[in-house]
Amino acid sequence: MLILGLNMFHADASAAIVLDGEVKFAIAEERLNRRKHFGGFPALAVKACLDAVGAKISDVEHVAVGQDSDANLARKVQYALTNPAKILNLIRLRQRKEAMRDVRALLVKALDVDAAQLRFQEHHLEHHIAHIASAFYCSPWEKAAGFSYDGSGDFVSTMMARCEGNEIEILDRVFLPHSLGSVYTMICEFIGYSQYGDEGKVMGLAPYGKDTYCGEISKVVSPNSGGFQLDLSYFKPLGSNQGMQVLPDGTVRLARHFSERLEKLFGEPRKPHTEITQRDMDLAFALQHRFEEIFFYLLNQLHKRVPSDDLAMAGGCALNSVANGRIFDRTPFRRTYVQPAAGDEGLAIGAALHTYHSVLKQPRRHELKHSYLGPEFSEVYIQKCLENAGLEARKLDRPALLDTVAEQIASGNVVGWFQGRMEWGPRALGNRSIVAHPGRPDMKDILNARIKHREWFRPFAPSILADYQHEYFEHDHPSPFMLHVYKIRPEKRKQLCAVNHVDDTGRLQSVTREENPLYYDLISTFHRKTGIPVILNTSFNENEPIVCTPEEAIDCFQRTRMDVLAIGPFVVIKPSGENRELAAVSTEKSASSS
Ligand SMILES: [Fe+2]
Repeated sequence: MLILGLNMFHADASAAIVLDGEVKFAIAEERLNRRKHFGGFPALAVKACLDAVGAKISDVEHVAVGQDSDANLARKVQYALTNPAKILNLIRLRQRKEAMRDVRALLVKALDVDAAQLRFQEHHLEHHIAHIASAFYCSPWEKAAGFSYDGSGDFVSTMMARCEGNEIEILDRVFLPHSLGSVYTMICEFIGYSQYGDEGKVMGLAPYGKDTYCGEISKVVSPNSGGFQLDLSYFKPLGSNQGMQVLPDGTVRLARHFSERLEKLFGEPRKPHTEITQRDMDLAFALQHRFEEIFFYLLNQLHKRVPSDDLAMAGGCALNSVANGRIFDRTPFRRTYVQPAAGDEGLAIGAALHTYHSVLKQPRRHELKHSYLGPEFSEVYIQKCLENAGLEARKLDRPALLDTVAEQIASGNVVGWFQGRMEWGPRALGNRSIVAHPGRPDMKDILNARIKHREWFRPFAPSILADYQHEYFEHDHPSPFMLHVYKIRPEKRKQLCAVNHVDDTGRLQSVTREENPLYYDLISTFHRKTGIPVILNTSFNENEPIVCTPEEAIDCFQRTRMDVLAIGPFVVIKPSGENRELAAVSTEKSASSS
């Protein structure tokens, strides 16, 4: 049975194809149309899904959409009636609903097929149920507590559930305008990070701050018996979509969230790209602190109602890997399953799996143990791309490839590592990654100067052989999708200085041979050469969506100052001149600033 899952007309539009309950292929539209967080109809992703399983749309029996505009309608109307601006928003949402309803017309247009070929049944599932389904139905568990939280989805920001077998029983919802995600976005905007998806940057800034504003920020959001509530005087009235708008061309735009009250309290908001002051860092600190307090309050409430060891979690806020890393210290939960695409692209998987298990009552057999659900490219194709780009590449067998790349990393070079199927979700997990030495003090500056051009305060992440995690980190709960931040043990911090954040933590990816044998063996080879079972792993891109195709990888390699490209079995090493000069400049800079 073939089910197509969709997230459409919402940020991070995506498609996934599920065959007899197994996710066979899944991809966000941004990876194909190269427009970050694209929020229109995922036409290219749908085509890629069908091609991946060799199917036509006429073979698809069910199409499931992770959004239901009829959900919570009474709440929406009640909220909208409070002022005319919100009524306009409600009308806009209803118009979107009409577009959503016309899934058939959209597929006919996208695939250029006759409407008579479509024989699928259509399902629309409430946003947060799709989030929870994406986690629980990919997890190995028969029973778990389910939790989802984000900015907003179908007029809800937070959902708690009891998950068992083929059922997701909703226990509670927190309705808009009360939203922990909106609080995060509001402070991000105030300190100059106003693009959709900037919250992760501010999470990295938080440990540079001090406890100056925790008291003030705690007044913005407070726990209550139903979950939590916002003091709305800090917020600009935003209407029923909480300030996120998808423009007709699929661009996702945020409205200003904060009110003048926040300016009176903290002064002028920081303008983007200006200097970051101690105030901005302290606000980031207070924000992360309060976010965690409310998050753990909610989880502890959930655990009282569902006293399980296991927590299946999704939603955009579930990408807060710092909070995720503290779950075991602050709540009774002992295990977490956070789906690799915890944000809204994950809705495509959630809606499809919910249809298979909860609607059609089909048995659960498949756990999602890895994130490699995207496209892959043949050796012949990669070779042709290299030739077209005029690059001289050496083809190596597996041991020689591993040895050469590990040697290059060990000698301080930066390697583009493009292998196998692309990752599903926002993290590069060893198939579309840039890899480097984790123990060189200058490596962060080198990566930023040559390739990534990221804010100085953002850390780079470590990939570690899972067998060594307990030796290097204070927690050994696996973090296969780079969604947990743990303290690095004091005796290992120097060895991992390029991935050790200012608060001595790392957002690790624990790598097992079962999940990714080639990447595991690369880290093992590096370990044998250096004694370090870790490599620095950052996404293969330069201010763009992560590269998907060999052409994009080659282009990124050529326009940046990456030293080496390892693409399939081929290795290209750049002549050293230019990169070496820049490395020397970066090293001098880092020496003078330390
Ligand atoms: Fe969401």
